[in-house]
Amino acid sequence: MSGLIRLAGVGKDYGNVIALRDVSLEVGEGEVVCVLGDNGAGKSTLIKIIAGLHRHDAGTYEVQGEPVAFSSPRDALDRGIATVYQDLAVVPLMPVWRNFFLGSEKRKGPGRLDIGSMRRATRDELLAMGIDLRDVDQPIGTLSGGERQCVAIARAVYFGAKVLVLDEPTAALGVKQAGVVLRYIVQARARGLGVVFITHNPHHAYPVGDRFLILKRGRAVAYHAKDDITRDELTALMAGGTELEELAHELGTVASDAGGEMAAEARRLGLPDGE
Ligand SMILES: Nc1ncnc2c1ncn2[C@@H]1O[C@H](COP(=O)(O)OP(=O)(O)O)[C@@H](O)[C@H]1O
Ligand SMILES: [Mg+2]
Repeated sequence: MSGLIRLAGVGKDYGNVIALRDVSLEVGEGEVVCVLGDNGAGKSTLIKIIAGLHRHDAGTYEVQGEPVAFSSPRDALDRGIATVYQDLAVVPLMPVWRNFFLGSEKRKGPGRLDIGSMRRATRDELLAMGIDLRDVDQPIGTLSGGERQCVAIARAVYFGAKVLVLDEPTAALGVKQAGVVLRYIVQARARGLGVVFITHNPHHAYPVGDRFLILKRGRAVAYHAKDDITRDELTALMAGGTELEELAHELGTVASDAGGEMAAEARRLGLPDGE
């Protein structure tokens, strides 16, 4: 495995909110690393750092062995790190091929778009990743959510991404559509890309992941190679048996606090406190 990106001991605060603490992660060529965690775990913060949207304020971030501190997503993209966000920035009424080349149009000469070549490239690229779009002239808005995610991924691959960062690409999708995207992730890996796949669904992560990083409240609670963890263990970690216990405990405390306050209030008012 050759290292594409490597984070070591990375931390990030927003004011006095600790969003990430001491998180480490490595992605090599032809490797899928899944980042799992509940809401607020720090997943988005982690990918924003990788994507160049935020700067880490502790630890190191290296791309192909070189420390980096990106100041924009453009910087990250120039180093081959492409991020596909869940709420894709597409223009729904524009043809698929137009969206594919948006901002990087092919030209025959000054002011003349090479439409034929863009159409062909879009069709070929999608086909290479296993999606057969008969008509790349159809508005991208007519594609399903899964297909749209795939177009965004294919686009990143076409424009030379070495690392794909996918922010919950399967979250809003049904089982079948999620399957389309998962197959696509496997295809990207087969083409030698490194993939960081963010999800909170262990059933999506396990079949495609080579490694799993589980975040909880900004910290890594587990980082395992696939050989070291079973699907059930991953699911249990995510479902968080301990988390549920803590919740039960917390709710119990809240309930008894509330009970205590009501009793005190009742005494102040000279009422029987009903106990
Ligand atoms: N821009 C921000 N300003 C302040 N706090 C933030 C900001 N973004 C995220 N946070 C906080 O950082 C923590 C991690 O958030 P986030 O990375 O979005 O988690 P996830 O993507 O796993 O749901 C949360 O407590 C969240 O409220
Ligand atoms: Mg998030």
